[in-house]
Amino acid sequence: MGEGAVDLRAGAAAAAYAEPLETLNPAQPALFQSDAIWPYFERLRREDPVHFCPDSPYGPYWSITRYNDILAVDSDHESFSSEGGITIVTQTLDQGPLPMFIAMDPPKHDAQRKTVSPAVSPTNLKRLAPLIRDRAGAILDSLPIAETFDWVDRVSKELTAMTLATLFDTPQEDRRRLTYWSDVVTAVPGHGLVDTLEQKMAIFVEYHAYFTKLWNERVNAPPGDDLISMLAHGPQTRHMPPREYFGNVVLLTVGGNDTTRNTITGSVLALSTLDRAFDRLRAEPALIPSMVSETIRWQTPLAHMRRIATRDVEFRGKRIRKGEKVVMWYVSGNRDPEVIVEPDVYRIDRDNPRRHLSFGFGIHRCVGNRLAELQLTIIWEEILKRFTRIEVVGEPKRVFSTFVRGYESLPVRITQTIA
Ligand code: HEM
Repeated sequence: MGEGAVDLRAGAAAAAYAEPLETLNPAQPALFQSDAIWPYFERLRREDPVHFCPDSPYGPYWSITRYNDILAVDSDHESFSSEGGITIVTQTLDQGPLPMFIAMDPPKHDAQRKTVSPAVSPTNLKRLAPLIRDRAGAILDSLPIAETFDWVDRVSKELTAMTLATLFDTPQEDRRRLTYWSDVVTAVPGHGLVDTLEQKMAIFVEYHAYFTKLWNERVNAPPGDDLISMLAHGPQTRHMPPREYFGNVVLLTVGGNDTTRNTITGSVLALSTLDRAFDRLRAEPALIPSMVSETIRWQTPLAHMRRIATRDVEFRGKRIRKGEKVVMWYVSGNRDPEVIVEPDVYRIDRDNPRRHLSFGFGIHRCVGNRLAELQLTIIWEEILKRFTRIEVVGEPKRVFSTFVRGYESLPVRITQTIA
């Protein structure tokens, strides 16, 4: 920590319990960035699981923090709408929020989701698997041995960017532009990647132009099996306004990359806390899928999803009024001890490891969840063929956000390889 910096983690429990419950606001990006958020959710789950915060930088909002309550809200899309946005931040773009199907209700949501779903169908995943494996192997073979390097940059970003470029059928040379645009989408101005909203918008112009060119090329070509062609030829999407096309591109760029990338990094970090985890996984490869699911729970790459109440709702003794923001904190539900045994423990042989909220529930449940698991499983199968340990040699740098739970960097060193 730098001189004068406040150690938020050390004082977090005291701070979380010292504040009056009535005004407690867990939506503080600094607490997420310093990984100091846990006691806030622990308190809310125990003392006020359906909690109204009357005032915050994002306006008044409800927090849903228990596992089963989140399931109930996520499953009731008629009472809790996604229309217009799914993060706690209210979009302030001149023309209103960017339309995309994650931020739509039926029937439009269903039609657009159906259009792109074949890209991540079991058949397509089977086709993609060998490609992902070759790439994972090449990335791992290029890593320096006995030298410190950034795992996020060299591995997590590389593999997920390559997969995304394939899904969009864009040139592989452009893959890191996709990563960059994805990071710009979720960046909070003034905290790292972009300084101002204007700068962010200027980068969006370039991003938009790139994908407009692709649409124009693909709409006039025979239908292909990439995401852009699917949107350009799909009966439900080919006439959508350009802004809606771009919104869906943004959704697929962020959804298809950032979350999986942060879980790959999270897996290295989490496994580094266990003794002999590499030996155990190598001896029992059947544990790899469990470890992958457990990491997705433990990491919870998207901390929340937001809804708006479409009517007055009585929920667990509280009255949520029409028009109010309701935030489902997946990150808290995934640590609910009433549902998950010893939820703060990272356990690669957990029973029922797919029981977690990280992919959401209901009609918006992550369409790419099997692709995410596939990439994670393959990278770990390939890691275990090559290395006996990946040492974390410094603190991870976490993202400043209440939405994305991710990492900007993770310094590691590989000291032991398999001869
Ligand atoms: C570990 C990785 C991932 C996590 C944790 C994750 C998480 C989520 C969550 C929480 C939602 C919203 C669920 C809800 O509102 O109930 C979602 C939706 C979505 N995800 Fe993922 N995701 C991941 C990987 C991917 C990948 C690889 C893709 C690539 C195609 C993807 C594409 C999408 C799309 C398009 C939606 C919108 C679905 C809809 O509105 O119907 N995600 N994801």
